[in-house]
Amino acid sequence: MRGFSGKTICVTGGAGFIGSHLADALVAAGARVTVLDDLSTGRLDNLAAVKDSIRFVQGSLLEPSRLAEAVGGAAIVFHLAAYVSAPGSVREPFECHEINTTGTMRLLEECRRQRTSRVVFASSAAVYGDSEVSPKSEREPMLPCSVYAQSKAAGEHLLRVWSHCHGLRAVSLRFFNVFGPRQTAGSAYSAAIAAFADALLRGRPVTIFGEGNQTRDFVPVSNVVQCLMRAAMWEGPAAGEAFNVGLGRAISIRDVSTIMANIVGSDQEPVFLPARPGDVQHSCADIGAARRVLGYEPTDSVEAGLRETLAWCREAMGSLR
Ligand SMILES: NC(=O)c1ccc[n+]([C@@H]2O[C@H](COP(=O)([O-])OP(=O)(O)OC[C@H]3O[C@@H](n4cnc5c(N)ncnc54)[C@H](O)[C@@H]3O)[C@@H](O)[C@H]2O)c1
Repeated sequence: MRGFSGKTICVTGGAGFIGSHLADALVAAGARVTVLDDLSTGRLDNLAAVKDSIRFVQGSLLEPSRLAEAVGGAAIVFHLAAYVSAPGSVREPFECHEINTTGTMRLLEECRRQRTSRVVFASSAAVYGDSEVSPKSEREPMLPCSVYAQSKAAGEHLLRVWSHCHGLRAVSLRFFNVFGPRQTAGSAYSAAIAAFADALLRGRPVTIFGEGNQTRDFVPVSNVVQCLMRAAMWEGPAAGEAFNVGLGRAISIRDVSTIMANIVGSDQEPVFLPARPGDVQHSCADIGAARRVLGYEPTDSVEAGLRETLAWCREAMGSLR
């Protein structure tokens, strides 16, 4: 994408799943990229392809000297670093609040101090809470049901405040269910697709909570990276507006597991466990605003994304043996 060549850009959380794909794309677009990451859930391996082309600052948003070093006069900051577990945030509310809410405020203040002109923030569809309205437009109210979701809503508000008070150009993107290579499997709450890929490639059945009829807007990470970059280049007001990012189409969990089993050639039946309390039945993004305003146009389908994810997981597992 044009407009990034020669620009100094900071990506917080750039060693994570989405952030590392963004770092790859920014380097390819000719940007001078700095990644700030404390490696709490991210991995240096994720940056292997660009490690010689970026500046890596290992540290937390909450460490003032590391934060100042990372922002380092950047023209654009993509803010993806976060405490990322919604269930975890209910058990560790202060930790989540500190990283996501206080951390975002510290970052915005540092951007003001260093005259960074733009911030693009990774918000979440979690801000809509357990609303069953589908598809969801940005006009739906924010009704967070976890400390994580509340912290994302707070982050959006903070961007708007810094825009209003200090003229920061700021955009929030509400990601739906992002998936792709480098997403981690393993915990009880890891993203469904990463967990399915892990199980199928180990020759085990996938585990589905409930009957599998619940639907989600699963979006390949490549599309999300495109939208992040478009948001950073948006010529509009950028006064803290929020946009949904998904495919704009929902698919059931059961259908996802079937497509993945077919790709792998597995005939194992899924194992069905009781539905998890609080899981919404249907979640789909209305992406009309991102299309119209930012020019976002998803290019990769769920099936293409699943093939790419499974191929990556297969290779990653092979290299562990
Ligand atoms: N994956 C999704 O489906 C999804 C959906 C909605 C929103 N999001 C948001 O997108 C962003 C990226 O998510 P992801 O899926 O890539 O998760 P991830 O865990 O892979 O990435 C988060 C990164 O932030 C880093 N980090 C955490 N705390 C930090 C701190 N205090 N200082 C510096 N770095 C810190 C982690 O080490 C990690 O590399 C997050 O803000 C997340 O809330 C993701």
